[in-house]
Order: sequence, then structure tokens, then C-alpha cells
Amino acid sequence: MRNRPDSFSTRAIHHGYDPMENEGALTPPLHLTSTFAFETAEAGGEMFAGDRAGHIYSRISNPTCDLLERRIAVLEEAEAGLALASGMGAITATMWTLLAPGDEVILDKTLYGCTFSFMQHGLVKFGVTVTHVDLTDPENLTAAISNKTKVVYFETPANPNMRLVDIQAVSAIAHAQGAYVVVDNTYATPYLTQPIKHGADIVLHSATKYLGGHGDVVAGLLAGSAELVSEIRLYGMKDMTGAVMAPFNAMLILRGLKTLELRMDRHCSSAASIAEMLENAYGVQKVWYPGLDSFEQHDVAKRQMSQFGGMIAFELDGGLEAGRAMMNNLQMITRAVSLGDAETLVQHPASMTHSTYTPEERAVHGISEGLVRLSIGLEGIDDVIYDLEQALPKPLIHSAA
Ligand SMILES: Cc1ncc(COP(=O)(O)O)c(C=O)c1O
Repeated sequence: MRNRPDSFSTRAIHHGYDPMENEGALTPPLHLTSTFAFETAEAGGEMFAGDRAGHIYSRISNPTCDLLERRIAVLEEAEAGLALASGMGAITATMWTLLAPGDEVILDKTLYGCTFSFMQHGLVKFGVTVTHVDLTDPENLTAAISNKTKVVYFETPANPNMRLVDIQAVSAIAHAQGAYVVVDNTYATPYLTQPIKHGADIVLHSATKYLGGHGDVVAGLLAGSAELVSEIRLYGMKDMTGAVMAPFNAMLILRGLKTLELRMDRHCSSAASIAEMLENAYGVQKVWYPGLDSFEQHDVAKRQMSQFGGMIAFELDGGLEAGRAMMNNLQMITRAVSLGDAETLVQHPASMTHSTYTPEERAVHGISEGLVRLSIGLEGIDDVIYDLEQALPKPLIHSAA
């Protein structure tokens, strides 16, 4: 037992695990088991009734997942955590738990493509009203919210156009109406933003991204009050979706978390330099990066984020065609969806991650057709800049003849 509060990295590396309780093993054991033995028939019955602690079946809980759940809770400064099969598993399990037919969910205008699709094409089919509000101005929520609103949901920064939402201001308005606030913190990670401290009720992640950090696992995590997390575990995860994380995947995410702080520092410093380089490059029309002075919500970013993240969106003068040509010119940077990996990745949201929106919907939801999304990796910064510079459009040089 240490008598001082642990730093972020120390919590990510040590919290909840004592090697001496596990035969001295430095690395937590992987509990590859679907089911757990009951000492007696009565003990099993008591566990099912919730009167006795212990694991029953790995669709409810598993010791390797349990350690990861305690780690995400301590990193997000929440009471409890939950490990799920994917980010979409975390989102759907949460929504199926919190919403019922007749309820309304208010969403920010821009969401990751499959989240938008789940809300618009999934929840709507089951009698939930889905309303998009521009939450970059919290006053818009004051005007839209009513006693039917059960959940206010947003990403900050939003995928792909980097919009920010002031978590504290939006939470105050939502809570005054008795609505839950659910924040997708995938882009920021708890190292840069801790939404629970700003008033959110549930924070969730595609752990596939920065938390895993190595592009080798699809996973989801969420954190919140012990009561809400238990409801999501026993209803949204166990019964409604079955979106449970495999213990092996929990081990990969536990490994990723150990270096989250180091990796994020590098992602952030490289992205800040590249955003500045892009802003000054020939043929670049606009760059969206929360750390830039030109970023419309730079003040919100400074208030809410300790650094400005590893994601950049930008658009070239020639729009979609110029963006595609630039992507095809890249030699090292990889054309791929997903983000938060060691490799720098580039993708075109309108035809890839956000192709779940119609072109008309993308126009309404602020996702322009020419937008290019960059996930800045951990390679040498000079190599990333070199690749981008050689791929960007060049000014036409007229010969004197
Ligand atoms: C912001 C955000 N939320 C949620 C998801 C869904 O996560 P997963 O792919 O792990 O299901 C993604 C995936 O790209 C994402 O970018």
C-alpha cells in the first residue's frame, strides 16, 4: 500500500494487481475460461442472486477483464469500468440499457459513421426519437432538451471533423433535465480528457484505438458510476448484445495501457508539428487541429484537453480529387481506416468511415466530401513530414521560355 496518489502511468501499470498474489508473476495471468466452479450448489445460487461475490460465466465477468475494468475506471476517475467486444459494443450496450421506446436521445451533429448508423437506423426502429443538435454551442441544447430526453451523447473531439463539445456546460444543462450524458472519449483518451470529472455519466471508448495502441485488437471500454456500469453489464452487455470482451483481448489492452502516456505524448507532439506544417503548405485549404490558434474552438480545447491529440483533419484546394491524389502519392503513410496506432494512417471519411451517411446527410452533419483524416503515428517525425510533403500538390513552375 503506497501512501501517495499514483500518477497516470503508475496507475496504468500497477493498479489492481499484486504479483505476490499471483505466484510472483509480473504480468497478470490470462484467465482463458468460459465458466467458473461453484464451491457448493448454495454458493452458486447466491452468486446468481447477487448475494455473494465471484465469477459465474465469462459473458458476465472474467478475472482478466475485471483487472482491465478496474484500470479504465481508475484512469477515467470513475467508480467502475466495463470491458466489451468493441467500441460499437460499448455504445450499443449503453444505449439499449439507458433508453426505452418513447425516449429521446440528443446527439451532436457529427458522429463516427457506425455510431450514426446505429442511432439513425437502429434505435429509431425501436421507437426512440433521435435528434441531432449542434452541441458546439451548449445553448442549442437548452433550446432542444425536454423531459422526453433521456440521453445526451457526443464525441469530443468528433470523428472526423474534430468538433469539440464543452462537457461541463452540456452536462449541467442535461442534468437539470434529468438526462444522462454519454461521452465517446476515443480521440482524447483519459490521458488528455477525463469526461467524468467534467460531469459526464458514462465515458466510453473504442479501445481498438489509442488504448490498445498497436492495431492488433478490436475492443471497447466504458466507465461510470458503479450502479450504471452494473446495469449496463447485466442488461446491455449480458442480455441485449452479448458484446463481451475476450480475456485474451483484455490482456492486449492491459499491455497497451502501460505505454499510453508515453505514446500519447509522442502522438500529440508529432501531430502538433504536422498540423502547423500542413497549415503553411501549398495547396492546403484548411486544417482542423485543436492545438492550432486558427481552430475555432481552441479555447474549449485549452480548457478541456491537457494536450491536443494525435488526429488531424484537412482539406486541399482541389477537394476530393486532390485529396485522393495526395493519398495515392504517399509512400510510407498507410491508407487505412482506424486510428491511434503506431503507424501513421490516412483515410477519406466520405467514402470510407463515414460512408454510412448519405451525401446529403454528410452536408448537413458537417463532413465535407474533400476532408482527409490523418492519425499521426509514432514514426520519426521527419519521415512523416517528408512523406506528406512529397505527396502534397506542388505549385506549377512556369519556364521563362
Ligand atoms: C470515435 C469512435 N467511436 C467508436 C468507434 C467504434 O469502435 P470499434 O471499431 O472498436 O467498434 C470508432 C471506430 O472507428 C470511433 O472512431
